[in-house]
Amino acid sequence: MYETIREGKASIRIKKVSKISKEMDVFYNPVMELNRDITILLLQQFSPMNLCDPLAASGIRSIRFSKELKYKSIAINDVDEKAVKSIKNSLKLNKINNFATMNKPLKKLNNTIKNNNKISIHNEDANLFLLNSKGFDYIDVDPFGTSNSYLEAAIKRISRNGILAVTNTDTAALTGTYPKACVRKYWSSNKKNYLMHETGLRILIRKIQLIGMQYEKALFPVFSYFKNHYFRIFFQCIKGKRLCNEIALEHGMFNGAGPLWMGSLFDSRLVNRMYASLLKNYNDKNDNTRNSIENNTIINKKLNNSQNNNELLKFLKIIKDESKINAVGFYDIHDIAKKRKLKIIMRKEELIKKIKKKGFKAANTHFLGTGIRSDIPYDNFLTLLRE
Ligand SMILES: C[S@@+](CC[C@H](N)C(=O)[O-])C[C@H]1O[C@@H](n2cnc3c(N)ncnc32)[C@H](O)[C@@H]1O
Repeated sequence: MYETIREGKASIRIKKVSKISKEMDVFYNPVMELNRDITILLLQQFSPMNLCDPLAASGIRSIRFSKELKYKSIAINDVDEKAVKSIKNSLKLNKINNFATMNKPLKKLNNTIKNNNKISIHNEDANLFLLNSKGFDYIDVDPFGTSNSYLEAAIKRISRNGILAVTNTDTAALTGTYPKACVRKYWSSNKKNYLMHETGLRILIRKIQLIGMQYEKALFPVFSYFKNHYFRIFFQCIKGKRLCNEIALEHGMFNGAGPLWMGSLFDSRLVNRMYASLLKNYNDKNDNTRNSIENNTIINKKLNNSQNNNELLKFLKIIKDESKINAVGFYDIHDIAKKRKLKIIMRKEELIKKIKKKGFKAANTHFLGTGIRSDIPYDNFLTLLRE
C-alpha cells in the first residue's frame, strides 16, 4: 500500500511501512524532516547555487529544494533503480516537468542545463557520479551510517566557497561506544561521558577537515549539530594552504578526547540570519493559521507545519544563543552536582543569570537539556552552584 507524504512544499508517494529501516523499498525517514528544514533555511541565506543530492533516496530533499529555494541547477542521484523511479514519479506528482534523465555520460549535464532542464536525474554510484561531474556549489552527503566512503569525491568536487553538508548516523563509533572503530574510522578517541556528543561532533569535523587539507581545501564548519541519532555539519570550503595550516593549529585534545576540532561549531552571523528568517516565516504562517481558524478552514498540513516549526524554532533559538559563546565543551549541572554530592540543584535559568551577573557568557546548549555552555572557569562555576 502506498501513501502520500507531505513535507515542506513537497509531496512524495512511498510504500507504507511499519518500521523505518534501510531495507525499505525506497528510504524515507520522517525524523529527518528537521534535518531537511535546517538545510533549506541555511541554503536560503546564500545566492542561487548548483545543488547536488548524490544519495537522494526518495528525492524528497531535492524536490523540496526545487520548491523552496532559488537555484541554478539540481542534480539528483541514487545508485538504486527503484529510488530513481520513485524520484521521477515524485517530480511528476509535484508538477515539476522540466527534468532530464541522464543515462551516463555526465558530460551531457551542461547541455541539459542549457536546454532549460535545470533538474537532472542520475542512476550511478555516488563517487563515480561526483568524480565525473564538473563540480557543484552545494553537495549533500547523506548516507546510511558513515559518510567516509563519499568524502574524498565530495571534497574534490565542491567548488570554491561552496557548502559541503555531511550527515553521519554511526553515533556509536563517534561517541566512544566502540573505541577501536573510532580510531579506525575517525583517527581519534572519545570518552564516554556527558560531553561525548560534542566531542564526537568535533572528532568528525577534524576527520573531514584532514581530507580537505590534502586538496588544499579549508573546510570551516558554519553550522554543526547533534540531534536524535545523527551528526550534521555544513562546511564552507575555502581554497588555500594558509587557511589549511590555520585549521591544523586548531586540532587538539579536550578533556581526554581527541584529537578534535577546537574551533567554532557555528558562524553566529549565519545562525542569526537563519533564525530571523524562520521567525518571519513562523509569524506569517501563524497569522495564516489564525485566519484559517477564524474561517473554519483549517487544513491538517498547516497545523503540522506549525508543530514542526515550533520544534525547529526552539532548536534554532538554543543554537543561536549557544553560537555566541566561544567555549569548547559545557557544564552538566546534574553530573557535576552528583559528583560533588550537592543536594540542592539550582534551576538552570537561575544559574545562567548568576553567571552572566559575574560578567561571563552563558547559555543553554543543544547537546544536553541539563547543560550550560559558558566561558566561566570550572572553579567559579562550582562556587556559584554551591551558593
Ligand atoms: C540515507 S538514504 C538518503 C536519504 C535522503 N538523502 C533523504 O533526505 O531522504 C541513503 C541513500 O543512498 C543510496 N546509496 C547507497 N549507496 C550508494 C552509492 N554507492 N551511490 C549512490 N547512492 C547510494 C541508497 O540507495 C539510499 O537511497
